[in-house]
Amino acid sequence: MCGLFSFLILTRARSVLCPFCLTASVSFCTYEARSLCLAGYSAGLARWSDFLNYAPPGRNGMNAQPELVWTENNEVRSRRWRTDHGSATPKKVVLADDTMSADTAFRLACEGTGLLWRGDFQNARQLLQALARRIDKPKKPRSKKSDAMAPALPGAAFHTHRQAQAHRSRVLNQLLIELEGDDSIPLRRAPDVRQACAQALGPADGQPSVMSLRSLQGVIGAFEWRKNGVEVPALGEALRIHPHYGVFSPVRGEYVALVAKAPWPAAMKTHSVAFDIGVGTGVLSAVLARRGAAKVVGTDMSDRALACAKDNLQRLGLQNQVQLEAADLFPIGQAAVVVCNPPWLPARPTSLLDQAVYDEGSQMLKGFLAGLSTHLCTGGEGWLILSDLAEHLGLRTREELMGWIDAAGLTVLGRIDAKPVHGKAQDATDPLHAARAAEVTSLWRLAVRG
Ligand SMILES: C[S@@+](CC[C@H](N)C(=O)[O-])C[C@H]1O[C@@H](n2cnc3c(N)ncnc32)[C@H](O)[C@@H]1O
Repeated sequence: MCGLFSFLILTRARSVLCPFCLTASVSFCTYEARSLCLAGYSAGLARWSDFLNYAPPGRNGMNAQPELVWTENNEVRSRRWRTDHGSATPKKVVLADDTMSADTAFRLACEGTGLLWRGDFQNARQLLQALARRIDKPKKPRSKKSDAMAPALPGAAFHTHRQAQAHRSRVLNQLLIELEGDDSIPLRRAPDVRQACAQALGPADGQPSVMSLRSLQGVIGAFEWRKNGVEVPALGEALRIHPHYGVFSPVRGEYVALVAKAPWPAAMKTHSVAFDIGVGTGVLSAVLARRGAAKVVGTDMSDRALACAKDNLQRLGLQNQVQLEAADLFPIGQAAVVVCNPPWLPARPTSLLDQAVYDEGSQMLKGFLAGLSTHLCTGGEGWLILSDLAEHLGLRTREELMGWIDAAGLTVLGRIDAKPVHGKAQDATDPLHAARAAEVTSLWRLAVRG
């Protein structure tokens, strides 16, 4: 039987191969890669499905429906183009099947030619792996002389890494799969992805489409993750969070544990209200509610996150304790604990998917700090969750962070640190290894300066 499950590269429920980097299991993905793989979020975008129908604004300012155009059997054909990486349609498309060698496919993909797959579906998967192997082949180490000449600009290693990731993504996304109007795949040995597509992208609309195999793998991976859920030990034994497609997933549990163990402010006794700014899957709201907050208000700008949080809080039986609101940062009112876990890397998103990972100009971080004092009741605490990876990468300094805290009229009551335990921190071949190995995730306890 050739179903969805045979298609998924599963070893155990928790080790689905990362559908985007394809080289490691999700549990070993980096913070940023993981967000691309599983979750991420769509700050400022109404729905994740916007990504999959993303088109640059047309000349009249409206979003035109992008179409992929190619010639087949002397006929010009076109299909709706679905992308979750915000990329334009490939300018040139050739038909590809089992007879195309991986080297030829790699050369064409590197040139930006789309390879519309007409062969056996499982062979397309293998070809994608072969392309990934070629692109991940270790490069010759740079000479000491060129290293000495290279300017040591802040963030240089990170920007080089991002460029390499963007190139990798462009090349791997050239392998294309056509879907029928009901989102079935008209290829030999293709899995039935209709349910996964409907869950991630919304009901099929009858229009045939084309998407990259890599994006499709993301949709399928997300289906499995949502079904199996992620174990969150800080929530209590055997409790799981079920991330939805396009919603930031708490795969790295250490930051959740920080919220579970931070000292509960005395103000909670008289004003038992907590806010969770940027609720995502609802994991931190659930921790706050299980710790005894009588009322938690979780906000998010993403409809997908709010739907996901609703689903998780219902599963955990916390729906009466946690109220969800679509809001930019804070809800109205004050709380004794206001928690926020903004994206950790201040960098410019270059695609819509990047918005899942990067907080350009530290907008959310600065907005949270600037608005915090007016949303804390007397004796209340703001709990900022932040990794210092950005500092190790030269993207932000500790002085800048302290300056924003100070300018917001806040003082630091204390900090609880956790060392990341994900595999990437130990991976010496990772170009960002030095920064990742030194990374510390902290919960900053902030209060209004007296
Ligand atoms: C890194 S995720 C954290 C999610 C969740 N709190 C957690 O810790 O797993 C950040 C969340 O903030 C949301 N977000 C981004 N900008 C926001 C804003 N201005 N107001 C509210 N939520 C925002 C995103 O949609 C995303 O769900």
